[in-house]
Amino acid sequence: MPKIAASVLSCDFAHLEADVKAVVAAGADWLHVDIMDGHFVPNISFGPDITGYFNRATDTFLDVHLMLTEPGRYAEAFVRNGADSITFHMEAVPEPPDLIERVRGLGVRVGLSINPDTPLERAAPYLGAIDLLLIMSVFPGFGGQKYIETSTEKIRQARAAIDRGGSRCLVEVDGGINIGTCRKVVEAGADILVVGAGLFKTEDYAATIKTLKS
Ligand code: DX5
Ligand code: ZN
Repeated sequence: MPKIAASVLSCDFAHLEADVKAVVAAGADWLHVDIMDGHFVPNISFGPDITGYFNRATDTFLDVHLMLTEPGRYAEAFVRNGADSITFHMEAVPEPPDLIERVRGLGVRVGLSINPDTPLERAAPYLGAIDLLLIMSVFPGFGGQKYIETSTEKIRQARAAIDRGGSRCLVEVDGGINIGTCRKVVEAGADILVVGAGLFKTEDYAATIKTLKS
């Protein structure tokens, strides 16, 4: 059964605490926190302080996705504000070993992310050194986009490479996941589904999460 990481980018910011609590009560396993700098991606979201609010609102695992040109500069601030994992992009940090080590030294899980146009081969050498591979199934920057179909094959290949290498790296998929697209993503080998609009824009969070997991 996949884990569901609810992407708080799509939550109701006017009622942030209530909405986040509701999605956790409905069965979300993780909260996925999208951090955008207006430079690595053409949008700006929020920073460490708001992440701290999410942390105080629930006891749930905070999965922080840094869409930043300089993730190394901010990783510590997010850990101080409750991040349980820090994921950064290979397009921003083409040589990631140092930052992988530094993030691990902060005592949290480490993830690497690849955009739809970055081949899996770029991340392959690091699969044994990270906890999460975050495969983007949309170009990052906005919630509510359409799932890019070629992602399914990439997920399948990532699963195979991880299984071959015998590492415990989890495959997380982010972008355009909803009750219509989740099946092929899970069948291809995803462990964690990031879901924003496909969850927060539905009426009954518990029913949606139940369907996504099944
Ligand atoms: C996209 C973000 C995603 C986004 C997913 O840049 O990284 O986490 O919030 O949202 P949906 O599920 O609506 O595509
Ligand atoms: Zn994300």
